[in-house]
Amino acid sequence: MPEGSDPRRNDGPSHARRLRRWWVIGVAAIAFVVLAIPLRLAVREAWSPRLAPPTAPLYVGSKRCRPCHQDQYDAWKGSNHARAMQPADDVTGPPGSPVRFE
Ligand code: HEC
Repeated sequence: MPEGSDPRRNDGPSHARRLRRWWVIGVAAIAFVVLAIPLRLAVREAWSPRLAPPTAPLYVGSKRCRPCHQDQYDAWKGSNHARAMQPADDVTGPPGSPVRFE
């Protein structure tokens, strides 16, 4: 048998080389996936805009509405609804009410 025609001699080294190439590609692919996840998280953390924490809602009062709702504000100002928002006492309480406030 002439040298080089033995399939084991020809395929042996090239098969091992091919196996080694696939092993390197496999390790590189796994390393890419394993490294991509923390890298992606780090990039997102670094580039995400820092939003101010939301503030709790608070009562702004009726005067804040006046610039845009002047007519409604004027109509409301002298009404019973406006008085209903005042702290209850003998003066602001309902006229003739039997309830007394201290
Ligand atoms: C910066 C201007 C502005 C301020 C300040 C403002 N509003 Fe308004 N408001 C508007 C506009 C504009 C509309 C929409 C009007 C429309 O669609 O006809 C509106 C609509 C409304 C409506 C609905 C009216 C409807 O007929 O459907 C209510 C109720 C209202 N505002 C209440 C308030 C109250 C209460 C405040 C104060 C706490 C306030 N607004 C402060 C501009 C303002």
